Amino acid sequence: LGFGIEPVNAHVRYTWKKGSGWDRGQIIPEPNINLHINSGVLHYGLAVFEGLKAFEGVDGSHNICNPYANAKRMKDGARRLMMPEVPEELFVSAVKDAVAVNRTCIPSYSSGGALYIRPLLFASGVMLPLKITDEFSLVVSVTPVGDYFSSSTNGVTAGVVDLDRCAPRGTGHVKAAGNYASDMYGLEMARKMGCDTSLYLDAKENAYIEEFSVANFVGVKDGCYVTPKTDSVLPSITNNMLMDLAKDAGMKVEHRAIHFENEIEQFTEIAGSGTAVVLSPVREIKKGSRVYQFGSLKLLDALKKRLVRIQRGEAIDTFGWMEKVPYGVAERARKAIEKPIPTRMPPTLLPPKKKMFENSKKLQNSMSFREKSKIFENSKIFENSKKFQNSRKARVSCL
Ligand SMILES: Cc1ncc(COP(=O)(O)O)c(C=O)c1O
Repeated sequence: LGFGIEPVNAHVRYTWKKGSGWDRGQIIPEPNINLHINSGVLHYGLAVFEGLKAFEGVDGSHNICNPYANAKRMKDGARRLMMPEVPEELFVSAVKDAVAVNRTCIPSYSSGGALYIRPLLFASGVMLPLKITDEFSLVVSVTPVGDYFSSSTNGVTAGVVDLDRCAPRGTGHVKAAGNYASDMYGLEMARKMGCDTSLYLDAKENAYIEEFSVANFVGVKDGCYVTPKTDSVLPSITNNMLMDLAKDAGMKVEHRAIHFENEIEQFTEIAGSGTAVVLSPVREIKKGSRVYQFGSLKLLDALKKRLVRIQRGEAIDTFGWMEKVPYGVAERARKAIEKPIPTRMPPTLLPPKKKMFENSKKLQNSMSFREKSKIFENSKIFENSKKFQNSRKARVSCL
């Protein structure tokens, strides 16, 4: 199992509307969404997302790793991008529903895989002037995953790129979708250097280590756990958990600025930390014509192993990170999608196929938007989706 999008049962969707706030949510048994072509997310990139994982434990239970931390980070992102905050309880319940309804897609304990969960908050409302719109959506999708860097088990290589990821007072500290758009070119530069991933230095002085493409920089120097402290990197939840584990193991933790040229050669271990990569060893960093090499993970590997054991229910979770997905939720969630909503117009409303083709131009020109909307409203789709929403309401209220 690699790291890609696989077909699953359903996703969870909540809508926020000006005046009424967040609705009661829906479970939607298909991966598509109907968006206005002028929605804010498409033109202005108004979106923040999260990434977290659910695991099958050694006892067969299903558990989500640290969802409240992701909920908090999404709130920070929403505030920075002027989007409505998703209350933490709503976020966690949406994530649990998404896992429950896709319980059959969670990789087995023995496979070593996980269910990757991707909550996304975005401006689904229409925007032309750069002004807050009246509709936002939260969608939570999932996909079963294995290793992120499947071809680099001995460690990855990183290239220091001549680009800035995020400005000091920009959006680097939140998971804004646009940060990743700007990293695409950096990743390509790294690949041209023969590297697996990009490493960024700070935008102001181009001297201090910021982070890898999708992971925080973590290193061991003189036996200490060292990781950069800057306002423009994403506060990695994995890194925070590893810092807690390091302290718990009696290791000194230094969360501080790291000068690349002055310090890089003194690191004995380097890794990238993140939900997707967990703690991936970095065996080589290239900067211009210089190549720096690092040993395999030892102290960091012990921390990684303890984290993975907690996630898989093999070690006691003394930190309270793991959130169980109870079974009742799954049964009710599955019932809610048993009757799929038809995604096409019922055939009775359509003229015969050939005629429809011949008349399509005529029809489009002669019908007003209002008339078209009326047909849609009168159709079974509308009735069914209302029925579906009501069943979801009943379901949510009994969770
Ligand atoms: C830029 C960036 N930094 C760090 C991380 C790691 O964060 P986390 O451990 O919360 O997944 C990610 C991962 O999603 C990321 O995209």
